[in-house]
Amino acid sequence: MQCAPGILPRPGAAISRLGETTGIYVLSSPRVWEHWGRPLLRALGQRQRVRVRAILFDDSESAKDLATIEQISRQLVLAGADRHTTIVAMGGGVVGDVAGFAAASYLRGVRLVHVPTTLVAQVDSSIGGKTGVNLPEGKNLVGAFYPPQLVLTDPKVLLTLPHREYRSGLYEVVKYGIIADPELFMYLERHMLALLRRDAKALTWVITRCIRIKAHVVARDEHEGGLRHILNFGHTLGHALEAATRYRRFLHGEAIAWGMLAATLFGLATERLREPEAMRIMRLIGSVGPVPSLAGIRAAQLRPILAGDKKARGGRVLWVLPRRVGKVEWGIDLPWTLVSRTFAELPRLSATAKS
Ligand SMILES: NC(=O)c1ccc[n+]([C@@H]2O[C@H](COP(=O)([O-])OP(=O)(O)OC[C@H]3O[C@@H](n4cnc5c(N)ncnc54)[C@H](O)[C@@H]3O)[C@@H](O)[C@H]2O)c1
Ligand SMILES: [Zn+2]
Repeated sequence: MQCAPGILPRPGAAISRLGETTGIYVLSSPRVWEHWGRPLLRALGQRQRVRVRAILFDDSESAKDLATIEQISRQLVLAGADRHTTIVAMGGGVVGDVAGFAAASYLRGVRLVHVPTTLVAQVDSSIGGKTGVNLPEGKNLVGAFYPPQLVLTDPKVLLTLPHREYRSGLYEVVKYGIIADPELFMYLERHMLALLRRDAKALTWVITRCIRIKAHVVARDEHEGGLRHILNFGHTLGHALEAATRYRRFLHGEAIAWGMLAATLFGLATERLREPEAMRIMRLIGSVGPVPSLAGIRAAQLRPILAGDKKARGGRVLWVLPRRVGKVEWGIDLPWTLVSRTFAELPRLSATAKS
């Protein structure tokens, strides 16, 4: 794992150090390629004597499916890719999940390198080895654990990311501060403006910190028995909001922002969390900027979605709630009356919500 500004021009050397390869296939999307394809190809070409090729595919969530895996795999066959191929996944979480699964399954597994280009991919999806695609029945239902051999993370590639997309990733960064790292949380309180400007130094500090937290949590709990649940903070309600609005109203991080606000209110209501700590959490979430409103979404509508969540046990929703900045508790069952009452209070709480 390497994280530094300007690392993108040096991937050739890092990939060479992984050992012999017969060909490098950069799997990416047309949009990412437009910005970062040439610099990457140039840098790879300088160092490698092997063939470097690009395979581009649609990275919209609706194309994150088995048909795309088939299409990529067939292109790899046609291009003559063998067992000693290296796949470089350059893009956001969709590219990483799809290309990662293609690498895991093509000829039963070829070498995988991630070059994450969104904040979400840099602090979350490129770490932990989860790959996979959606089925019409639901998200990420088919996949594999397939950790990459190398992750090259360059905060500079975030400069071309649309601002809303970038801010959405910042909510995931805030999540790490709340669940595990009071120092990161404090840094975010002090440097949010620099981060919103995408200052390379602030970003490098923050991304490195998030990577360390996720890697630590995943290493202690590789197959999701326990500790990994803390990463789900804000995601229980967040996923339900995304599903209830058919993934159209909120970007993922925005839905998680609402989920974290709700979890903070649950923490207060169940006397797990003291008020000053709750205020700090809510203020930090608010400082990232506006999120789409909850207008028209009713708690009753969310209930069956929550009960059907992959992480629910026998219809019982298990929540992750904050105890203080840097510490959360997981596996908590809450009475539905509290959930629905809190949900009704949520819209008033966020001064930053826009309709
Ligand atoms: N595997 C995991 O552990 C894990 C964790 C979190 C999320 N995910 C998955 O990740 C996906 C979401 O990923 P995401 O939030 O990175 O979004 P994304 O991959 O959908 O990318 C968002 C948009 O930004 C564009 N883009 C990417 N990098 C860019 C750049 N540098 N400049 C300009 N445009 C750029 C993409 O083309 C896309 O249009 C979801 O499918 C989710 O399930 C997986
Ligand atoms: Zn998330």
